[in-house]
Amino acid sequence: MIKNICCIGAGYVGGPTMAVIALKNPNIKVSVVDINAERIAAWNTNELPVYEPGLLEVVKQARGRNLFFSTEIEGSIREADMIFISVNTPTKTFGVGKGRAADLRFVELCARQIASVATTNKIVVEKSTLPVRTAQAIKTILSETGNHAKFQVLSNPEFLAEGTAVDDLMNPDRVLIGGDQTPEGLKAIEELTAVYASWVPRERIIQTRLWSSELTKLTANAFLAQRISSINSISALCEVTGADVDEVAFAIGADTRIGAKFLKSSVGFGGSCFQKDILNLVYLCEFFGLPDVAKYWEQVILLNDYQKRRFAMNIIQTLFNTVSGKKIAMLGWAFKKDTNDTRESAAIYVSDHLLNDMANIWVYDPKVPEKSIYADIDYLETRSSEKNKELLTVTHDPYEACKNAHAIAVVTEWDEFRSYDWQKIYDNMMKPAFIFDGRNLLDHKKLMEIGFKVKAIGKSY
Ligand SMILES: NC(=O)c1ccc[n+]([C@@H]2O[C@H](COP(=O)([O-])OP(=O)(O)OC[C@H]3O[C@@H](n4cnc5c(N)ncnc54)[C@H](O)[C@@H]3O)[C@@H](O)[C@H]2O)c1
Repeated sequence: MIKNICCIGAGYVGGPTMAVIALKNPNIKVSVVDINAERIAAWNTNELPVYEPGLLEVVKQARGRNLFFSTEIEGSIREADMIFISVNTPTKTFGVGKGRAADLRFVELCARQIASVATTNKIVVEKSTLPVRTAQAIKTILSETGNHAKFQVLSNPEFLAEGTAVDDLMNPDRVLIGGDQTPEGLKAIEELTAVYASWVPRERIIQTRLWSSELTKLTANAFLAQRISSINSISALCEVTGADVDEVAFAIGADTRIGAKFLKSSVGFGGSCFQKDILNLVYLCEFFGLPDVAKYWEQVILLNDYQKRRFAMNIIQTLFNTVSGKKIAMLGWAFKKDTNDTRESAAIYVSDHLLNDMANIWVYDPKVPEKSIYADIDYLETRSSEKNKELLTVTHDPYEACKNAHAIAVVTEWDEFRSYDWQKIYDNMMKPAFIFDGRNLLDHKKLMEIGFKVKAIGKSY
C-alpha cells in the first residue's frame, strides 16, 4: 500500500491534484516539490499561486497534516514509494520539431534525478501530458541507476479543466491509469487505483495499456478543441447569412449523439493545453508517416488562429478601417473565466493585431496581475517593451478602462461583466459606441436599446 507520495511540479496540475489526493487519503504523506522557490513559498501561504474556486479550502484542510510543499526535491524522491511527474511540457521553440513537438527536457530531467537519487523500488507516474511512447524513454533512463532499485512507469493523465479544477478532481468523469500488462505493471496499476478509489467510484477508474493512456489525453484535447473550431467555423458563416450561432449550437446540441457541451462559439480557444497538445499530435502523425492525419488535426489550430485574427480585423474594419490612436477597452485577459492563467489567451493575439494598428488598449481583468499582461505581450516580440507600455495600459477599474473608449472588446467570459452599469459606461464612451462581444456573454438586446452598436461572434446585427 502506498504510504508516501512525491509530486514533482507544483503548477496548475500538481498543486490542485495533490491537494485533493492528500485531502482524501489522510494516511498518505503527500509532498509537492518544485524548483521554483517563489511558487512553493506561495503554496505555503493563503495567497496560492494558482487561483481556483474552492482550492484554498482544500489546501487549508490538508496542509501541514499530510500535505507539504517544499523545494526538497531529492529528499522527497528518496522517501516516496510513488512519484508523480507533473512538470510543464511546452511546445519546442527550437531545433528538431520546433513549433510542434513537446519539449520533454523537464520530464527527462525528473527521470534522471529520480534515477540518481532513488535507492528503493518506486512507481513513477506520468501526470504531465506527454507524446505517446514517452514512458519508453523514462523507463530507459530509470533502468540505468546502477543501484538495483526497480521502477514501474504508469501513465495517469489529468483531465481537469482550469476554473473548475477542484470540482473536476472531486468528481471526475473518469480517472485513466495505463501501465504495462505484466504482473508488476498490473500491481502498480492497482496501487494507484487504490489511491483514487478513496473517493472515485471504481467503475470510473479506467485501466489501460500504457500507450493507450498516453494517446488518450492528446486525443481527448484534440476532440474538445475540434468542437470549438467546428462551431467557430460556422460562426463565420452565420455572420454573413443571418443565421445565429447560439441558435444553431443549441439546436444541434439537442441531438444526444452530438451533445450540448463545448459548442460555445467564441473569439477562439486558449489555455496551455489545446494548442500544444494538438501540435504534438500533428508532430507525432508526421513522425510516424501519416501526413493526411496530421493535416486533419492541424486544421483545428489554423481555424482557431483565423478566428482570433477575424475578431481583431472586424474591430479595425468596423472602426472605419483604423484603430490608430483610438482607445479600445479590453475586458478580460485570462484565457477563460475563473482562472488567472493567461497562457495562449485569445486576448494576447487580438491585442497584438490591434497594437500593430497603433490602438491604445486599456485592459481590465479581475484576476490577472499587470505584470503577467505585459509579460504576455512582450513575449511575442512584435514591438519593444517600451512601445507596449506606451500603447497598452492596465487598470483595476473597468469603468476607467471604458471611459472615452471608441470600442469595448469582451474576450473573457467573466460573470461580473454582465452586472456592470452599461448605461453609465455608454454615457462615458465616444460615439458611436461599439461593443465587440467575443464570448456572446452580454445581453445584446439591452445593450442595443441603450444605444451601443453590438458586433458579436456568429451574429449579424
Ligand atoms: N493546466 C492544465 O489545465 C492542464 C490540464 C491537464 C494536463 N496538463 C498537463 O500537466 C502538465 C503540467 O501543467 P501545469 O499547467 O501544471 O504546468 P505549470 O507550468 O503550471 O507547472 C509546472 C511546474 O513544474 C516545475 N518544474 C519544471 N521542471 C522541474 C523540475 N525538474 N523539478 C521540479 N519542478 C520542476 C515548474 O517550476 C512549474 O512550477 C503539462 O504537461 C500539461 O500539459 C495541464
